[in-house]
Amino acid sequence: MAFVELRSIRKRHSDKEILKGVSLEIQQGELISIVGPSGSGKTTLLRLIDGLDFPDSGEILIGGTRLTKETAPAIRPNVGMVFQNTVLFDASVYENVAYSLRFRGLPNDLIRQKVEAALSLVVLKDLAKRSALTLSGGEAQRVALARVLVYDPDLILLDEPTANLDPANTLIIEGALRNANLQGKTIVLVTHNIFQARRLAKRVGLLLEGEMVEVQETERFFNSPMDQRTRRFISGDLVY
Ligand SMILES: Nc1ncnc2c1ncn2[C@@H]1O[C@H](COP(=O)(O)OP(=O)(O)O)[C@@H](O)[C@H]1O
Ligand SMILES: [Mg+2]
Repeated sequence: MAFVELRSIRKRHSDKEILKGVSLEIQQGELISIVGPSGSGKTTLLRLIDGLDFPDSGEILIGGTRLTKETAPAIRPNVGMVFQNTVLFDASVYENVAYSLRFRGLPNDLIRQKVEAALSLVVLKDLAKRSALTLSGGEAQRVALARVLVYDPDLILLDEPTANLDPANTLIIEGALRNANLQGKTIVLVTHNIFQARRLAKRVGLLLEGEMVEVQETERFFNSPMDQRTRRFISGDLVY
């Protein structure tokens, strides 16, 4: 059984149909990347998997349980989302990462252990005491990832986590994702960066105007895609 299953998901915003019947199965421990032009519905799709919003029709199953308003509170603690633009609290890096554990009532020494481990995964241990609001964009994104890693969710969703970041920060985030995946995390990485998808993903899916055009093993996606639109997208011919 797939860990995440999307069955014919449809979603409208205002009068526009944003997702037009998206189906996808994601296996436990898989790192899958979703690529596609701006406006194709990638963020909308991730928000549905995160249980922040709900489809108009179709269903999402996570670990075999249907994700609904009623089940979301039980499912969401096992899901972590890194947004494109992260808002950090006006507190130290340490406290930003510790927040979810304090919220869960963990003892202080366990919190310290977990926060330090998460910070070292994103190479931020030296900045633990810094005010989060003084960080660079890349450092802030690394804190955002640490905030998710620290509570150890089985499913991690990322919405263009390295858009506009320099190579050094991108490399650290990619390393942390690779490591999390090796530890068995299931990861859905939405990215504009097809090279990043190629470096990290086991499978890649192209979302175009709310339709999942093609999902393939990464090597196949880039070297011998089935769909003409995938060919055009990876060669940069698809204007957007
Ligand atoms: N809350 C919303 N209300 C109205 N339209 C929205 C909303 N969220 C997204 N959209 C529209 O849905 C389309 C897809 O958006 P989005 O999922 O953000 O795409 P992507 O992340 O692929 O760029 C866009 O045309 C966007 O303007
Ligand atoms: Mg988006």
